[in-house]
Amino acid sequence: MEEILKTFPQHVCSWLKGAIVYKYQDVWLNEVFLKGTILAQQRFKAHPNDVFLCSFPKGGTTWLKALAFAIITRETFDISTNPLLTNSPHDCIPFLEKELAKVEENQKNSCSLPIATHMHYHCLPDSVITSPDSVVTSNCKIVYIYRNMKDVIVSYYHFVRKLNKIPMENASFEEALDEFCQGISSCGSYWDHILGYWKASLSRPERFLFLKYEDMKNDPTSNVKRLAEFIGRPFTIEEEKANVIEKIIRLCSFENLSNLDVNKSGKHHPEECIAIENRLFFRKAKDGDWKNYFTLEMIEKVDKLIDEKFGGTGLVLK
Ligand code: A3P
Repeated sequence: MEEILKTFPQHVCSWLKGAIVYKYQDVWLNEVFLKGTILAQQRFKAHPNDVFLCSFPKGGTTWLKALAFAIITRETFDISTNPLLTNSPHDCIPFLEKELAKVEENQKNSCSLPIATHMHYHCLPDSVITSPDSVVTSNCKIVYIYRNMKDVIVSYYHFVRKLNKIPMENASFEEALDEFCQGISSCGSYWDHILGYWKASLSRPERFLFLKYEDMKNDPTSNVKRLAEFIGRPFTIEEEKANVIEKIIRLCSFENLSNLDVNKSGKHHPEECIAIENRLFFRKAKDGDWKNYFTLEMIEKVDKLIDEKFGGTGLVLK
């Protein structure tokens, strides 16, 4: 793998003190994502009923994982004993490109948990995209969560900065934004990521559910119901009357999860990766925090990019 890495185009991220990203299948990826992507492409075989939770980093992954886990396990665990109270959402639902062995183990045990991924649509293993006869697309379901692009940029800046232990005064937000707008990040271009899934959804819309972070905040109940229906675990009338949806929303809320011991001081340790402190997945969860960071020039630049890339799609990233 080390030898293969050297063969890909490389970029040195100046604001990240020389961290390197590699271009693979037209996507800039950091070493962890690159190695994980190649391994998943070589080894992973999707089952027809697999459900994937797909997102760009900082698009709402942690929240989506928590909600999907709580929905699926609601008959196994009472809210007061749910594993989400003592485990990070990232330990409850593994990433395909970071925890392949865990994903395969879950598949072997016919466990009904979804599989999370930050992989771009065109990089997904063939079996997720096409059916075994390679003629039609596969029947795997895909939930895609996305978020206001400016808030993703700010969230990404802080996450990566803290992960690399770089204090704010030594990490230029302007340089981070510039790289992000060139499609250079640990996971490539945000717009290409969204558009890859969106374009794929046009021919088989029934396979895809698009959730928007801000919409989920404004109306969690209907969005959690949509999610539960889509993943084949709709709420019964009795459950609705017993306020199960509200209980799940409360369990998975930022306020609740970010205050749990496991998410304040625990660590997430995917295979062969450096452990990540769970608290890094929880920052402010505020819509519009970007206003505290963007200059007028930055707003103009990102809005122009959004108009160019998303015009005519109906996707609202501002
Ligand atoms: P901020 O940095 O704006 O606070 P991801 O989960 O894709 O890594 O995204 C992280 C972002 O989602 C962070 O945003 C984080 O605070 C927010 N987040 C984490 N858990 C959340 C939850 N349960 N509900 C809403 N937002 C959440």
